[in-house]
Amino acid sequence: MGRTVGNLDKFKYSKDLAASNDVWTPALLDQWLTKPKAVYPSTYMLYKQPDAAIRADLISYISTFKD
Ligand code: HEM
Repeated sequence: MGRTVGNLDKFKYSKDLAASNDVWTPALLDQWLTKPKAVYPSTYMLYKQPDAAIRADLISYISTFKD
């Protein structure tokens, strides 16, 4: 959370994540987990979470991590 999308050297991201200057926020992560391809069409992350309450729990959990 708060980090630029797709910017860690150790991962090979798809082109839309690699090119993005967006910053991860709770709102962006909620859209991403609802339908990743709607946010970054090139993505190869297939996971989706249709349940808003579960997405909220995931976002709370991720927000506890610091770089
Ligand atoms: C708990 C559910 C999940 C969450 C919260 C989550 C979150 C994320 C986030 C935030 C990114 C972008 C990372 C960055 O900007 O550095 C990402 C990328 C990615 N995730 Fe997930 N993810 C989840 C589940 C999964 C699962 C189950 C898989 C595969 C089995 C997966 C595969 C990927 C892949 C391949 C990418 C890179 C996408 C690309 O470059 O297009 N994720 N994920």
